[in-house]
Amino acid sequence: MRKVRLGRTGVEVSAIACGTWAHGGPKKVGRMEVGWSGHDDERATAALVAAWEGGITHWDTADVYGDGHSERLIGGLWDRVPRQEIFLATKVGWDPGPYEHFYHPRLVAERLERSLAYLRTEQVDLYYLHHCDFGPDDRYLDGALEVLERAREAGKIRFLGLSDWSSEKLARLAPRARPEVVQPYRNLIDDSYAASGLKAWVEEHDAGVAFFSPLRHGLLLGKYEQPTRFPEGDHRNRIEAFRDAAVLAHLRRCREAVERRLAGHPEPVLQALTGALLADAPTGCVLLGMRRRQHALAAATLGEPLAAADLAWVRQLYQAAG
Ligand SMILES: NC(=O)c1ccc[n+]([C@@H]2O[C@H](COP(=O)([O-])OP(=O)(O)OC[C@H]3O[C@@H](n4cnc5c(N)ncnc54)[C@H](OP(=O)(O)O)[C@@H]3O)[C@@H](O)[C@H]2O)c1
Repeated sequence: MRKVRLGRTGVEVSAIACGTWAHGGPKKVGRMEVGWSGHDDERATAALVAAWEGGITHWDTADVYGDGHSERLIGGLWDRVPRQEIFLATKVGWDPGPYEHFYHPRLVAERLERSLAYLRTEQVDLYYLHHCDFGPDDRYLDGALEVLERAREAGKIRFLGLSDWSSEKLARLAPRARPEVVQPYRNLIDDSYAASGLKAWVEEHDAGVAFFSPLRHGLLLGKYEQPTRFPEGDHRNRIEAFRDAAVLAHLRRCREAVERRLAGHPEPVLQALTGALLADAPTGCVLLGMRRRQHALAAATLGEPLAAADLAWVRQLYQAAG
């Protein structure tokens, strides 16, 4: 597994990171589905161990994934995986608890302590603010940053991260929050990383970047033969494309074309989808969701950026699918 320097953190992390949102299992917040169906603790644990064995030593979780379930699963692994070999990231921000805002300073402080306890660690390597909604006039931002600076001084976190589904929001707030790492949504269909100005900010400030949902939750693999509804509690039910026969057929054709073009690679489609994101991000890694051992074994063959000619071809192919 190739290592990348995660920007000015100076830490060398695996170019492919292990995403564990699905390890939280199915979940609803009110009527909104926000989890993943089909989770199994044993399978998820086997995926994490295989990821480590394959050199995937950057792991990403959050307080809200299964309301701490994903963090607890990871925290239960340190007798099989040496803690010091994992660059461990978690997040706060999507569950306000009893407070009037997600980023109330007391909530941020409490959630960090909970994450440390669930993860059974004294220090989190990278602690993200999970989204960029800091209230009217961003009034909760400074308080959250202050709590995290104190936590850093106390040795509870090493680096600060900022995440969002919108690269535009990240580009607006990164100059003020000054995170060492940003975590934007990015894949070959949804890609405003450069156009938003975030890429320029990352380069100017030597930030690390971790792209999430590179497969658009599995959709872009072209593996769905039929329009699909998932069991209750699965966020993929909120994405129309999983039920759109024409989109699914197009993505299957993309898969066949990539399998022909990148036939020399053991995982052509995964390589196309992840290698394209790594190609223009020298301080970047890709967070790939791995819920079973086979996913981690496949992921361990990835991590190299696409060559320029393949990159242009792949971008054109998938943008037509968008
Ligand atoms: N900061 C944020 O707001 C945010 C938001 C989203 C995600 N993230 C992070 O980014 C990570 C990755 O994103 P993601 O989980 O949304 O999705 P993703 O990486 O785009 O897709 C992962 C899913 O694709 C399928 N898959 C993966 N490898 C496969 C393989 N080799 N063969 C067949 N299917 C495979 C699996 O689902 P099936 O087996 O069910 O098909 C897997 O759960 C998350 O786990 C999380 O850590 C962060």
